[in-house]
Amino acid sequence: MLRDLPWCPLALALACHAAPSAPRDTASVPAMPGPTTAAPAPDRVALNDGCVRCHAPQAAEWEASQHRSAYADPDFLHAVATERGPFCRGCHAPEADPARVPAQAEGTIGVACVTCHVPHGSDASMLAEGTLAATTPTRATPAPHPVTRTAAFADVDACGGCHEFAFPRTPALAMQSTLTEHAASRFAATPCAECHMPWVDSSVGSPSDGAARHRSHAFAASRDPAMLRAAIDVQAVREPGGRVSLRLTPGRIGHAFPTGDLFRRLWVDVQAQDEDGDEVAYDARALTRHFAGPGGPITHDDRPGATALRDGIVDVAFELGDAADEHPIAWRVVHQRVALPHDGDDAEIFGEIVVTEGRLDAAGATP
Ligand code: HEC
Ligand code: HEC
Ligand code: HEC
Ligand code: HEC
Ligand code: HEC
Repeated sequence: MLRDLPWCPLALALACHAAPSAPRDTASVPAMPGPTTAAPAPDRVALNDGCVRCHAPQAAEWEASQHRSAYADPDFLHAVATERGPFCRGCHAPEADPARVPAQAEGTIGVACVTCHVPHGSDASMLAEGTLAATTPTRATPAPHPVTRTAAFADVDACGGCHEFAFPRTPALAMQSTLTEHAASRFAATPCAECHMPWVDSSVGSPSDGAARHRSHAFAASRDPAMLRAAIDVQAVREPGGRVSLRLTPGRIGHAFPTGDLFRRLWVDVQAQDEDGDEVAYDARALTRHFAGPGGPITHDDRPGATALRDGIVDVAFELGDAADEHPIAWRVVHQRVALPHDGDDAEIFGEIVVTEGRLDAAGATP
C-alpha cells in the first residue's frame, strides 16, 4: 500500500504516517497558528461562518485562495488518493479531528479564518497585528469581539507553524523549508505578509468593515503570473558552437524559487528554430531539490535563491551544437507542479506557467 503513494519517493512514503509534532507555542506570547494535533472544539465551523459574514472583503479573497481549498482541491486529493494520513490532515484540514476523515463542512473550509486568528487552545479573542502602524487606517467601528494584538502575528510566526516541517520519521530531511530559506534571504527582515498579503482597497467591503483598505487574504503565489515574474531576473547569452547560458538572479522573493512543496520545479529550456519555427536542436534542465534516490538525502539544490548558493544566483549552460549557430534560439523559464520531484522530461505535470521567455538572434546577426 505505502509503495503506491504517488506523491512520495518510495522510502520517504514510510515517513509520512507518524503523528504530527506539537505546534510551536511559548508562555509569553499567545499561541500561533500551526498544525492541528487533536480534535478541535465542536463549534469552529459556525465560528468561522461568523467571521465570513462580518468581514466580507477578507472572506471573498480567502474563498478563492489555496488556504480555503487546502483540503478540497483536486491536487491535494490526488496526492492523498492512496493514503489519507492524520499527518497530512493536520495542516490541510486543520479544523477537523486529524484522526478521522473530515466531515464535509470541516474539509471545505481548509485553512480557515479561525485557524489563523483563533488558534486551537487559545481563548476566543481574534489575533491581530501587534501595533497599529501609522499606515493602518483608523477603524470606524469597534470590534464586537475581543482582539489580541501581538507583534508575532505580523511576523513569520503567523505562518511558520505550517510552512516549515520535516518528514515525521526522518526529522533531518525537510519536506518544506520556507522559513530557513527566508532567514537566509536578503528579505529576511520582511515578514511573509508584506509580500503575500499586500494592502488592497476595501471598497467591495461590508458595512461592518470600517477601514478603507485591508490586507489581501488571497495569498497569491504560484498561480499568479505577476508574482512569478517578480521572482526572477534572467540574462541570456549565446556563443559560437551553439552554446547558450542563462543567469537566473532572484528578484523580489523572500525564499528559494520555487519554495514550499517538493513537487515543484523550474524547467529551463532552449530551442534552436528554423524559419518555420520548427525545432533544430533542444535541451532542458530541471532546477529543483534533487534526491540521491528513494529516501533522500537531497544531493543538491539548484533552485534560484537556495541557501547554499552565492547570492542565490544560478547559471545554466547548454550546448546545442554547431548546427544551431545559424538559427535563432528561443529560451523559457517555466514554473511546473509535477507528480514526483523528477529531474527529467518524463514527469507527470499537473500545471505549469511560463515565468519568462526570450529569443536570441542567430550568431553573426546584429545583436
Ligand atoms: C458580528 C460581526 C463580526 C463577527 C462575527 C466577527 N467580527 Fe471581527 N470585527 C468586526 C468589526 C466591526 C471589527 C472592527 C472593524 C474592523 O476592523 O473591521 C472587527 C475587528 C476584527 C479584527 C481586528 C482588525 C484590526 O486590526 O483592527 C480581527 C483580526 C477580526 N475582527 C477577526 C475576526 C475573526 C477571525 C472572526 C471570526 C472568528 C471575526 N472577526 C468575527 C465584526 C465582526
Ligand atoms: C506542517 C504542515 C503540512 C503537512 C503536515 C502537510 N502539508 Fe502539504 N502543504 C503544506 C503547505 C504549507 C503547502 C503550500 C506550499 C506550496 O504551495 O508549495 C502544501 C502544499 C501541498 C500540496 C500542493 C497543493 C497545490 O495545490 O499546489 C500537496 C499536493 C500537498 N501539500 C500534499 C500533502 C500531503 C499528501 C501530505 C501528507 C503526507 C501533506 N501535504 C502534509 C503544509 C503541509
Ligand atoms: C493563513 C492565515 C490567515 C487566514 C486563513 C486568515 N487570516 Fe486574517 N489575517 C492574517 C494575518 C497574518 C493578518 C495581519 C497581517 C498584518 O497586518 O501583518 C490578518 C489580518 C486580518 C484582519 C485585519 C484587517 C486586515 O488588514 O485585513 C481581519 C479583519 C482579518 N484578518 C479577518 C480574516 C477573516 C474574516 C478570515 C477568513 C475569511 C481570515 N482573516 C483568514 C492571517 C490570516
Ligand atoms: C494551518 C497551517 C497554515 C498556516 C498557519 C499558514 N498556511 Fe499557508 N498554506 C497552508 C497549506 C496547507 C497550503 C497549501 C494549500 C494547497 O494549495 O493545497 C498553504 C498555501 C499557501 C500559499 C499558496 C502557495 C502556492 O502554491 O501558491 C501561500 C502564499 C501561503 N500559504 C502563505 C501563507 C502565509 C503568508 C501565512 C501566514 C500569514 C500562512 N500561509 C499560514 C497552510 C498554512
Ligand atoms: C520579498 C517578497 C516575499 C517574501 C518576504 C516571502 N515571499 Fe513567498 N513568494 C514570493 C514570490 C514573488 C513568490 C512567487 C514565486 C513562487 O511561486 O515561488 C512566492 C511564492 C511562495 C509560495 C509558493 C511557492 C511555489 O512556487 O510553489 C509559498 C508557499 C510562499 N511564497 C510562502 C512564503 C512564506 C511562508 C514566507 C515567509 C516565511 C514568504 N513566502 C515570504 C515573494 C515573497
